[in-house]
Amino acid sequence: MIVLLLGSGGREHALAAALAKSPALTRLIAAPGNPGIAKLAECRAVAIDDLDGIVALAQAEKVDLVVVGPEAPLVDGVVDRLNEVGIRAFGPTAAAARLEGSKAFTKEFCARHGIPTAGFRRCRSAEEGHAAVDAFGVPVVVKADGLAAGKGVIVAETLAEAHAAVDHMFGGALGAAGAEAVVEEFLDGEEASLFALVDGKTALFLGDAQDHKRAYDGDEGPNTGGMGAYSPAPVLSPALIDQAMNEIVRPTVAGMAEEGAPFVGFLYAGLMVGPDGPKLIEYNVRFGDPEAQVVLPRLKDDLLELMAAAVDGALEGRKLKFRPETALSVVLAAKGYPGDYVKGTEIRGVETAEKRGQVTVFHAGTALDGGRLVSAGGRVLAVTALGADAAEAQMKAYAAVDLIDWPEGFCRRDIGWRAAAAAEEG
Ligand code: AMP
Ligand code: GLY
Repeated sequence: MIVLLLGSGGREHALAAALAKSPALTRLIAAPGNPGIAKLAECRAVAIDDLDGIVALAQAEKVDLVVVGPEAPLVDGVVDRLNEVGIRAFGPTAAAARLEGSKAFTKEFCARHGIPTAGFRRCRSAEEGHAAVDAFGVPVVVKADGLAAGKGVIVAETLAEAHAAVDHMFGGALGAAGAEAVVEEFLDGEEASLFALVDGKTALFLGDAQDHKRAYDGDEGPNTGGMGAYSPAPVLSPALIDQAMNEIVRPTVAGMAEEGAPFVGFLYAGLMVGPDGPKLIEYNVRFGDPEAQVVLPRLKDDLLELMAAAVDGALEGRKLKFRPETALSVVLAAKGYPGDYVKGTEIRGVETAEKRGQVTVFHAGTALDGGRLVSAGGRVLAVTALGADAAEAQMKAYAAVDLIDWPEGFCRRDIGWRAAAAAEEG
């Protein structure tokens, strides 16, 4: 199979590494890719928002399967565009991608199908938002409806904060994403992520993970796209995984099919595990980043063959197999991230770090500048290690991180603290 992979982050590097292992792969093309992906694929300079360019590239290269990494092209309908010209694509159509693209759609969908999630009110004006805040009391969560690159959610502890969040959303700060908002009940518990591989009808459990969203040690500082992750998530016992698959993921897949928008692709459920079991916080319609960098290295099955089966609606009766080890990934980011940071600073030592056993350095925001590897984004590398348990994976990951020489970068030193402490207690 000739495969075209769309995206340029650490998630896409992890997807490329998994695809490259498949005996069914004849050629891997990436658009736009990055220097890590370039070791596994032919990279083409087509941007992720250039849907015409993507369709033209897939046609010119007679691609058998397009694999879409990030959410924006999915929400914009790249799968629909490819299907219209007869090209197979792994990922949801625009109609199915509303599970990530519109929080109001997802909340109302959950209500229609009895899927456990926080109580909510859909608000079309600041006035409705303020009334909903008063009705719920605090703590309360205010969310912009559309895609807001992680900036659309405010967990407010006080009424003043909650009302200010409503004004912020409807004040136009988030553009079209903030035209509507959802105000919802605060859920208490521990967060975990669950991934499923979905073919329109059948959902297979594809692993679980926990990530660290805050920028600094001790889960302090601003929210980011994710500073590190580990898999599996100790909080999700096999019984809780079954419960989440049966009460949340499978009813979602059945409901989407029933409503005429069958879901195909990776379904990423953000869960809150509290006293009355797992509840849905949100859906994403693609793999997580950096969750892909810890879940995919544990998958034993052939990812390409599975993706092709998902597109063909042929997953029924299958079960995925995982390595028993824990995978843990530490993100190296440019100093200043998630605020302002400089690009183009040199990174040394990646090849030395990669020579360590059971370590992979995934590239996220990197570029080549005449033979030198330089930074080209906020999150720049994700250093993943496999270990017998979280404590060992953590030790191996940081030993590899310490071989990377990049004075303009930083990382958290406590990724996996909760899981590593649990592993040490045995
Ligand atoms: P989201 O983009 O919907 O995943 O929200 C971002 C983060 O806000 C989540 O990872 C949670 O930490 C937090 N959050 C969102 N909704 C809730 C809720 N209903 N209760 C508690 N925390 C929430
Ligand atoms: N790491 C969170 C996400 O990919 O959305």
